[in-house]
Amino acid sequence: MNILILGGGGREHSLAWAVMQNPKCDKLIVAPGNAGIAMIADCATLDIEDGGAVANFAEENAIDFVIIGPEAPLAAGVADRLRDAGFLVFGPSAAAAQLEASKAFTKEICDAAGAPTAAWARFTSPEPARAYIREHGAPIVVKADGLAAGKGVVVAMDEATALAAVDDMFGGAFGGAGAEVVIEEFMDGEEASFFVLCDGANVLPIGTAQDHKRVGEGDTGPNTGGMGAYSPAPVLTPEVAARAMDEIIRPTVAEMARRGMPYQGVLYAGLMIADGAPRLVEYNARFGDPECQVLMMRLGAQALDLMQAAAEGRLEDARVNWAGDHALTVVMAARGYPGSYAKGDVIGGLDDLPEDSGHMVFHAGTTERDGKITASGGRVLNVTARGATLEDACARAYAMVDGVDWPGGFYRRDIGWRALKGSDR
Ligand code: AMP
Ligand code: GLY
Repeated sequence: MNILILGGGGREHSLAWAVMQNPKCDKLIVAPGNAGIAMIADCATLDIEDGGAVANFAEENAIDFVIIGPEAPLAAGVADRLRDAGFLVFGPSAAAAQLEASKAFTKEICDAAGAPTAAWARFTSPEPARAYIREHGAPIVVKADGLAAGKGVVVAMDEATALAAVDDMFGGAFGGAGAEVVIEEFMDGEEASFFVLCDGANVLPIGTAQDHKRVGEGDTGPNTGGMGAYSPAPVLTPEVAARAMDEIIRPTVAEMARRGMPYQGVLYAGLMIADGAPRLVEYNARFGDPECQVLMMRLGAQALDLMQAAAEGRLEDARVNWAGDHALTVVMAARGYPGSYAKGDVIGGLDDLPEDSGHMVFHAGTTERDGKITASGGRVLNVTARGATLEDACARAYAMVDGVDWPGGFYRRDIGWRALKGSDR
């Protein structure tokens, strides 16, 4: 099978790594890829948000299966264009990807499906939004409706912050994404991510994870794309996961099918869990980054079979082979991230690190120059390890981090703290 993966971050490196382990994979191309991916697969330059260009490329390269990593090509309809051209694709249609691309759409689906989520209202002008905030008081959450690269959410602990967020969003701070604003109830609890594969009708859970969004230790400082993650998430006990499936995920997937926009691909549910009850925070139409890295480390080669079964509508009979293991990833980022940062540092020590089924450095923003790996993004490396326990995975990951020679980089030393605190360590 000839496979094309779209994307070039740590998520796509881990997808490529898992796919390459499956003997079914004859050839793998990743577009655009990065320096780490280039060590295990061919990388190609391609406008991955241009469905026509991707379809032509797939045709020219005799691709059998396309796996779409990030949300932008999904929202741009690349999966639709490829399916129309007869390709097997892992990833939802643009219509189904609205579950990520529009917060108001998701809230409507949740209401129609009876899925528990925060109370909400949508606004297209600032004055009624301000009145709603004054009426409900803080804490309260203000969200730009559309895709805003993870930055369109303000969790306001006081009314002034919420009112300022409304002004910012309608003032164009998020461009078109802020033309409509959703305001919702603040939910308290512990957050965790639940990943399921969908084939339009059937749903298969493939793992749980928690990430650390804040840049600083103790979960402090500004939000980032994620500074580390671990799987499984202890708060998503089998009981909570069963409730999430019955009350949130299956009703959502059924409602999408009923509306003629069946959901096919991975559905990533961000949940808030309080007193054993899950409520939906948000959906994403893709794997999380860096959550994907810990999921792929645990799933390995079977990830390809499962994604193929989802794309072919065969999930009813698919099973996940669970190893009962744990994985943890530490993100190494360029100093200054999520603000401005320098590019071009040479990163040393990588050749001496173990790379096997239990240890991998997944690359995100890296570029090869003169045979050396250089930093070319904010989040640069995902140092990932697997273990029999979370403590074990954590110790292995940090031992690898210690071997990376990159004075211009930084990382959090406390990835997994919440779960480790709750364990018997
Ligand atoms: P989202 O982009 O919708 O995931 O929001 C980003 C982050 O904001 C989430 O991961 C939560 O930590 C937080 N958040 C979003 N909505 C709520 C809510 N209704 N209550 C509390 N926190 C929220
Ligand atoms: N790590 C969070 C995300 O991928 O949305």
